[in-house]
Amino acid sequence: MKKYISDIADSIPPSGIRKFFEIVHSTPGCISLGVGEPDFVTPWKISDQGIYAIKDGYTHYTSNRGLPKLCRLISENIQSSSGISYNPEKEIIVTVGVSQALDLALRALINPGDEVIIIEPCYVSYASNISLVYGTTVRVPVFKDEGFQINIERLKKAVTSKTKAVILNYPSNPTGINISPEILKEISEIAVSNDLVILSDEIYSSISYEEVHHSIISIPGMKERTVYLNGFSKSHAMTGWRLGYTAGPENIISAMLKIHQYTALCAPSIAQYAAIEALENGDRDVDKMKAEYTGRRNFIAARFNEIGLPCPVPSGAFYVFPDITPTGLTSEEFALKLLEKQTVAVVPGNVFGECGEGHVRCSYATSIENIKEAMIRIENFTKSL
Ligand SMILES: Cc1ncc(COP(=O)(O)O)c(C=O)c1O
Repeated sequence: MKKYISDIADSIPPSGIRKFFEIVHSTPGCISLGVGEPDFVTPWKISDQGIYAIKDGYTHYTSNRGLPKLCRLISENIQSSSGISYNPEKEIIVTVGVSQALDLALRALINPGDEVIIIEPCYVSYASNISLVYGTTVRVPVFKDEGFQINIERLKKAVTSKTKAVILNYPSNPTGINISPEILKEISEIAVSNDLVILSDEIYSSISYEEVHHSIISIPGMKERTVYLNGFSKSHAMTGWRLGYTAGPENIISAMLKIHQYTALCAPSIAQYAAIEALENGDRDVDKMKAEYTGRRNFIAARFNEIGLPCPVPSGAFYVFPDITPTGLTSEEFALKLLEKQTVAVVPGNVFGECGEGHVRCSYATSIENIKEAMIRIENFTKSL
């Protein structure tokens, strides 16, 4: 019911994924390949630091920007992965997940009517986040025949005099692909020649497999026009702690900090203490989780191909995005019928954008036993069609 609700809140659709998961929760015995979060619990030594923070009474607001030590560690971490240095006192904010960092960036940058380019299929929140700041979403599709890589000519054509920013997300949710340094370079040239800001959501950067992850901030001239977004949710299995961070040019970060001061005050203090441990001593845990994901990825991609649903082996994140067109079903029919007949949940590709049609997203952030059983059920399902 629209009564009392603002036009903008009324206009944004409920998340396609959420709608689907309400059905999943009411399906007994369901194996879910739908969730977008690590199945691992947060490594104990990280959780312990959160517990100590509570015991020691570090339960107050922190500075708006975040604990100085955490900001310094974040800066060092970005420097070691990309070679780019950010001033922890001026160019970094600790946020309530990447979600809040993205919201702050859009609020700080977008005037009503400004256009923001997203590369679809993509993370479900981007278009609604843009709508919430009265921006206009411009969708640039990527296709399986092009390996889901950005077609530079298509991107160039999407830029108009109203374009303000481009949101990138590599490794990608939902395709799991990474981006080559050559394509990043071409995107940078478009950004520079059209004076665009890049919002680079690199939340899966530490879950990159054989290929090294390249950040756009490493390209000369891009630090000055990029808002870098990252966090602890996926890398350290800390989704519920709600902790992320952003780094960028001082003027943009200052504008974001003003909004953060009024809307969140600071990120959760307990999570910030835990995150210090994550950055100081968590690398081995990240590597262990990645090794486990690698085995699962190889297995699930091979099984999809065996079943006759073409599935590239992704180079990052924890999703596969198989092509389900051989079944003759739409992605929504496939997901609903699979759930009904074999109680396995996958996410229809069309929720990530129209060009995700013909695919489903399967998360392998679940045990190998679950994945093996799910693949038997998916095989039975496809044979029964
Ligand atoms: C691409 C992408 N960005 C951002 C988020 C949200 O991350 P956070 O938990 O840090 O808010 C997700 C969560 O699934 C995601 O897949």
